Amino acid sequence: MAPQAVRGSKGEVGMSDSEMTRRNLLKLSPGLAAPAVLHSRQAGDVIRVAFVGTGNRGGYLLRTMLKIPGVQVVGVCDIVEERARAAAKIVEEAGGRARVWTDFRKMLDEQKEIDAVVQATPDYTHKDVNIAILEVGKHLYAEKPLALTVEDCRMVAAAARQAKGIFQVGFQLRHDPRRNATMKFIHSGGIGRVLMCHGIRHGGDLPRAIPWYFDRTKCGDIMIDQGIHILDLFTWAIGSHPLRAMASGGTNLFINEPPGRTVMDNYSIIFEYPQGVRVNFSHHYFDPPGFTGIRELVFGSEGAADLPAGAWQPRTQKGLVKLDVPDADKTADYMSLAAFIENVRTNNRKPLNDAESALRSTLVPIMGTRAIYERRIVTWEEVAGEA
Ligand SMILES: NC(=O)c1ccc[n+]([C@@H]2O[C@H](COP(=O)([O-])OP(=O)(O)OC[C@H]3O[C@@H](n4cnc5c(N)ncnc54)[C@H](O)[C@@H]3O)[C@@H](O)[C@H]2O)c1
Repeated sequence: MAPQAVRGSKGEVGMSDSEMTRRNLLKLSPGLAAPAVLHSRQAGDVIRVAFVGTGNRGGYLLRTMLKIPGVQVVGVCDIVEERARAAAKIVEEAGGRARVWTDFRKMLDEQKEIDAVVQATPDYTHKDVNIAILEVGKHLYAEKPLALTVEDCRMVAAAARQAKGIFQVGFQLRHDPRRNATMKFIHSGGIGRVLMCHGIRHGGDLPRAIPWYFDRTKCGDIMIDQGIHILDLFTWAIGSHPLRAMASGGTNLFINEPPGRTVMDNYSIIFEYPQGVRVNFSHHYFDPPGFTGIRELVFGSEGAADLPAGAWQPRTQKGLVKLDVPDADKTADYMSLAAFIENVRTNNRKPLNDAESALRSTLVPIMGTRAIYERRIVTWEEVAGEA
């Protein structure tokens, strides 16, 4: 017979007495119970992780996290109880046991064993959820964007600076084996001086089952929610923030579809970086399957690099040159979460996708979106100077 669901302390759900007893026994087992301390861990230490937001992305990250050695997922929280329960089932299927919560503050307050949290809640909640988790001293892997306004982004970055825990942001493409290897090649001068980046993100429409993606007040619109990944990579490749943005965008196909839609379905943008380096980026949702897809090209004085391909080509020769790509069989998400766990273990306070880079990389699409809405050239100074 299935265990009877009962409500434990307010905000924790779904534990029968027998489950609680089992959990207590587990807690008493040697090596399983440990205080949440934020000093460096030993190589073999188990890191106890909780998830906040177990929808589409959270579920995917959870499955990925469960593959990383030395991790126990001990808590799962979603304001929609059945999603938290579904996440707990995933943990159970992997041989673990996670407590089920609908209030993450309660979870953090009561489940002291938690070392680290993965946040995958909707964009409009990021500021409050991130700051609350950082303030109680947990390590935090937080989904992008940092927040939706300049002021809120700065508040999250400030909380991360003061936090006891490590803070890493879900710009997982920085950890993608091919992109990462190519970026190392670029930064070592492999393509010479970076002159220009050209990006394309063409695909089908946003997930219709998730309404907040279509509301610009909740997701910041498609550049802040989606274009942000490629813009983060280009900003990283160039090594500084843009100075000016000029752009045009709107809704050409999915007008009021789904009903009430306030996000665009296409835009084109040019960012000017220092020394006349330009980023040219095109993003839309009416790409036939496999037609253009994603391109992330970085052009330099000696050659050009193709980030997702892990390859480059000298400027005066034909033919792509494949780069040596360590961990080529691993996904970006696996590598990003594994890096987070390693950062927690080694107390590395400067992750590759840290608060400062995430702040810059969230302000870039905020600036770009403003250029579209206000139909004018927007400068970094006016955006970054705010708040
Ligand atoms: N890095 C990436 O490639 C990538 C890909 C997809 C989504 N994301 C990001 O992941 C986040 C989640 O996106 P999604 O597609 O999973 O959306 P979703 O709506 O499917 O999932 C969000 C979940 O968070 C829950 N939630 C909302 N407020 C909460 C709170 N206060 N406490 C606990 N749970 C709460 C919701 O009930 C929902 O189940 C977004 O920030 C999105 O931008 C990142």
